[in-house]
Amino acid sequence: MRLALLFAVSLLCAPSLATAQPSPAEVARGRYIFGATGGCGCHTVPKETANAGGRRYDGPFGTVYSTNITPDRQAGIGAWTDEQIITAIRSGRRPNGERLLPVHPFTVFNGMAAEDLKALVAFLRTTPPVNRANQPKRITVPMFESVFLPAWLAAFAPRETPPAAAPTSGIARGEYLVRAVGHCGECHTPRTMTYATDNSRFLAGNPQGPEKSEVPNITPDPQTGLTWSEEEIAEYLATGNKPDGDVADGLMAEVIQGTLAGYRDLTKADRLAIAHYLKSIPPVRNKIGK
Ligand code: HEC
Repeated sequence: MRLALLFAVSLLCAPSLATAQPSPAEVARGRYIFGATGGCGCHTVPKETANAGGRRYDGPFGTVYSTNITPDRQAGIGAWTDEQIITAIRSGRRPNGERLLPVHPFTVFNGMAAEDLKALVAFLRTTPPVNRANQPKRITVPMFESVFLPAWLAAFAPRETPPAAAPTSGIARGEYLVRAVGHCGECHTPRTMTYATDNSRFLAGNPQGPEKSEVPNITPDPQTGLTWSEEEIAEYLATGNKPDGDVADGLMAEVIQGTLAGYRDLTKADRLAIAHYLKSIPPVRNKIGK
């Protein structure tokens, strides 16, 4: 009887084992999502192998280096389960329980749909493994990770909510790509005194953005924001070309170009959805630069 039951159970499990290998369509979807994040470029030192980590970030807490997210089993994330990788992306926890600093925008990636995260992980597993050890972080603030960070996350860090399924069209699609996957706010939203994004001024620009960039206001404020047409915004996200003949520079050029994929690989429909959403958000007067 028990044997029969075991046999029945193993038969039930067999089909799921057979489908454990992600389909090419799933991997392609994951590559698309990878591009929609801007190519996870923080994990790549410019001009070096994609996803091998080692890029330096200085913050008020000290210095961290982005980590190796290639499928190398020793130095990368190849030995982690899908669930463990997804938990790190959206909740900022490594399999050993260690916290990721919010330099990795997990509060925002928490807004990604489960199916997109699964596809993203399937794609990451297909990228070339690189055996390059992670560089340890140097935290200069005492008890930063044990006391300050958890308190800050609970009190100040706005967290996006995942949709039941990824929206496929319209403003909802644009909002999803901007707020969660594309994490535009991480650079374009001003920060409060605690360094949390000030979402009451969502996308209103940041004079002192990541890597000391000056990040423009892209709310539809007629004086200080983005006044381009939706077509022009969609064109910029594909090519970096601005309506005035100038081209995207710095970090924006990086996310458009991406690494193994970038914003430029978004479909025109998705780029227009982003543009349409940007036109719908509250205009905020906030002059950046000049
Ligand atoms: C890693 C940081 C970063 C991310 C993420 C990012 N941007 Fe940018 N963005 C910048 C910077 C820096 C500039 C200024 C580029 C320049 O000086 O050419 C910029 C410029 C722009 C501009 C041109 C505005 C102008 O007035 O010239 C638009 C439009 C824009 N970004 C839209 C977006 C959208 C939409 C997203 C998300 C899908 C996004 N950005 C994500 C950093 C970022």
